[in-house]
Amino acid sequence: MPDVIAYGGDWNPEQWPEETWEQDVALMREAGVNRVSVGVFSWALLEPAEGVFDFGWFDRVMDLLAASGIAANLATPTASPPPWFGDAYPEALPVDSGGRRLHHGSRQGFCPSSPIYREKALRVTEQVATRYRDHPALALWHVHNEYGCHNARCYCDTSAAAFRAWLRSHYASLEALNDAWGSAFWSQHYGEWAQILPPRDTPSLPNPGQQLDFRRFSSDALVELYVAERDLLRELTPGVPATTNLMAGAHWDMDCWAFAAELDVVSTDHYLIGARAEPHIDLAFAADYARSLNGGRPWLLMEHSTSAVNWQPRNRAKAPGELRRNSLAHLARGADGIMFFQWRASRAGAEKWHSAMLPHAGVNTKVWREVSALGAELAGLSEVAGSRVKADVAILIDHSSVWAQDHPAQPSSELDPVEEAKRWHAALWRAGITCDLAHPEGDLTGYRLVLVPALYLVSDSGAANLEGFVRAGGVTLVGPYSGIVDEHDRVRLGGYPGAWRDLLGVTVEEFFPLDGPIRLASGGSGSAWSEVAHATSAKVLDTYATGEPAWTRNAWGDGAAHYLTTRLDDDALAGVIAAVCAEAEARPPATSPPGVEVVRRSHPDGRSHLFAINHTAEDAVVTSASGASVTVAAGDARVIAG
Ligand code: GLA
Ligand code: GLA
Repeated sequence: MPDVIAYGGDWNPEQWPEETWEQDVALMREAGVNRVSVGVFSWALLEPAEGVFDFGWFDRVMDLLAASGIAANLATPTASPPPWFGDAYPEALPVDSGGRRLHHGSRQGFCPSSPIYREKALRVTEQVATRYRDHPALALWHVHNEYGCHNARCYCDTSAAAFRAWLRSHYASLEALNDAWGSAFWSQHYGEWAQILPPRDTPSLPNPGQQLDFRRFSSDALVELYVAERDLLRELTPGVPATTNLMAGAHWDMDCWAFAAELDVVSTDHYLIGARAEPHIDLAFAADYARSLNGGRPWLLMEHSTSAVNWQPRNRAKAPGELRRNSLAHLARGADGIMFFQWRASRAGAEKWHSAMLPHAGVNTKVWREVSALGAELAGLSEVAGSRVKADVAILIDHSSVWAQDHPAQPSSELDPVEEAKRWHAALWRAGITCDLAHPEGDLTGYRLVLVPALYLVSDSGAANLEGFVRAGGVTLVGPYSGIVDEHDRVRLGGYPGAWRDLLGVTVEEFFPLDGPIRLASGGSGSAWSEVAHATSAKVLDTYATGEPAWTRNAWGDGAAHYLTTRLDDDALAGVIAAVCAEAEARPPATSPPGVEVVRRSHPDGRSHLFAINHTAEDAVVTSASGASVTVAAGDARVIAG
């Protein structure tokens, strides 16, 4: 990562006459832009007919950047195969679960398992890499764009064959697969590998093991595509780092942990969801996830928006100051680069109503003034680059668990594991405590508190990992419907949650989903979910009116394991999370009024910056642990060194 904060966005000069390019670059310099992503959707112009390449125009783009001192995240243009591809190879277009083949004319029109797609993608990648390997503007490879955003799962015959190959490499025998999938149920026993299909549309519910493995296979197929391009780039340009922009926290079809393990640096995109009451807390979740995916090291925000997007039912424009608050929140949570989709707002095409750094209305605009001011501010914050955020708390997140719980036949459809994780994260955000996200099998040493809001599926090693964390003195809080099934989505028998009955000192005999709120003895309430649980060794800290446990605590090893049997409302959840934070001695870096975000980034040598971002309409006083206080005006943000 650079020793300055990278600043800029996707530059798509091919959408404009060449006369505008010089003006673009001059305006970039005026706005403090030092980094752009180029070539992301350029395949059709770089290879206008199959095997015919035209790099002249792109040479001029790259040369212009180099001459202006602007570095390039150079894309491999493989996210959008040109029309000639779909025309010549219709068998390589994606097929949906109903057997409908999709047509070209949008983007990501390819089957991830198609050998033809892979061949053509690697060929254009090789051409781009060979041509620009020594170009002075090249800083980072931007491989593809948002893998799986539109074609995460393909159900065609090619995918079916690849799925069977994946299954054969994961299961020693067909019998092992039949056992894992519980195929005795509904007469689904497979006698030949060739009988196995992707979970295409069926008359009734799909097999849970089959659908889970298909999600895993589909995610792996995308990771493999990334790795194939990356390996080629490594061979041709050793030393130039590579990334692909994830959609961490927003899109759950791709296993971000698996992707992150292959990236030289994690980059991600984040867009505010207008329907959320406090979208900046969702932003914090995504940023914390990106940092965690990069092992705590600085990461790159590849895309966010200067104002409205164009793909929600109502696309709210950002209020004055919101763009700056959003950007500084990403920076606070470990980003070393703040970039946007896109540089210049499109005049035509599917995203012409998406905001950009340079709006349709030009430079005499709120957006342009804020973009330029932010560029200047970030240039003054280069000392932040390279510093890290230290979190004492982690939330466990696993894509397999989310996918398994996505099977439609559940005790209740009202427990959404992603929303639950976000709600617990929001409770920490409101308490001023920055947390990491962690994989259930990841390294938990170094944390004081591990939250498990919704981990329906956990492997044996994941279950043992949490036990080991608590045995060594950690505190955990486990939410309902966690630790329920093994890695094949088979119930762990003998009382729920089978993975952690001993750890929690609790056994659950039956779930009682709710259609309304349920009162607790403490005065709080739960909703959607309740359980008939028995404390075997745990102490009961709160109960339902019936006296049955709602919140328990079990001393275990040198630590303690708390359990909730209901989905607590926000206030009650905040109370329980405050209690476990106090027990684990996890504290915020400063005290601040509600709605004021406070995060610290530190260098190993002790230099640090406290970010204080006021999302409210009132001035706020923030007081650090040392007793120093600063006022942060309504809607303002301050970055305080030391
Ligand atoms: C029907 C079917 C059973 C079972 C139940 C579940 O009655 O005949 O096989 O699926 O529904 O409610
Ligand atoms: C994604 C894509 C961009 C653009 C934006 C719009 O992040 O990567 O190409 O489509 O969404 O919000």
